Amino acid sequence: MTGLAPHPMSTHEPTPNSQTPFRRTIKSYVLRAGRMGTGQIRAFELYGPRFLIPYQPQRLDVQAAFGRSAPLILEIGFGMGDATAKIAQVRPGDNFLCCEVHEPGVGALLKRCGEAAIGNIRIVQHDAVEVMDHMLGEDSLDGVHIFFPDPWHKSRHHKRRLIQSPFVARLARHIRPGGYLHLATDWQPYAEQMLEVLSAEPLLANTAAPDQGGYADTPDYRPLTKFEQRGLRLGHGVWDLVFQRI
Ligand SMILES: C[S@@+](CC[C@H](N)C(=O)[O-])C[C@H]1O[C@@H](n2cnc3c(N)ncnc32)[C@H](O)[C@@H]1O
Repeated sequence: MTGLAPHPMSTHEPTPNSQTPFRRTIKSYVLRAGRMGTGQIRAFELYGPRFLIPYQPQRLDVQAAFGRSAPLILEIGFGMGDATAKIAQVRPGDNFLCCEVHEPGVGALLKRCGEAAIGNIRIVQHDAVEVMDHMLGEDSLDGVHIFFPDPWHKSRHHKRRLIQSPFVARLARHIRPGGYLHLATDWQPYAEQMLEVLSAEPLLANTAAPDQGGYADTPDYRPLTKFEQRGLRLGHGVWDLVFQRI
């Protein structure tokens, strides 16, 4: 990691028995060994070269990565990618840079992209926080989608929640003025945290009408996601937040 900017969610603390600092990074996910299906394994071989972008701690040439210049949307945590693929298909004029750390999910979206020839998606199998910090420039994004990020229900895990002020401040600087940030969650306490954090960010303005309590109508382009369906089955509500970069 020498030579890289420190990860913004990192802290340097002395080890218990020495003064040597070490990096402790709080991640918004835990990598679990998910089982890959044969179709997903094959999708890596067949479609990986076309749709996967390797993580590198250097600025991405977006035009070269997509083979064209178009508005760029970053998606963080697409899960199995069902909604991602549908959105890319209904918005063929936009480029979608999609980050996920869960390998079977990456395989599933690769399969969809390859089989349906979805040319406007590229996938980075890596922590989106690092992708944003190292591969993308300020004002480089036209939109950001974060749908049903892990809610980390227990209070001792709240520090793992992605939507926190320092991250949102950096994310907002990566969105061009006029661009948007679209979040959705099925966990009311997290929705409230999202609303509080986004409302306090000086570079963002809420697009929701004043009588909507801060939450937006679900935009037409967002289909039901897999995690949303699970939440609905459990009787949860759904909250969308759409803010514009000032
Ligand atoms: C609860 S799932 C939601 C998946 C999908 N958006 C949906 O609505 O069905 C959250 C996903 O975000 C991914 N994730 C969490 N933190 C991430 C990060 N920092 N970078 C990339 N992916 C991340 C997890 O691996 C997980 O698949």
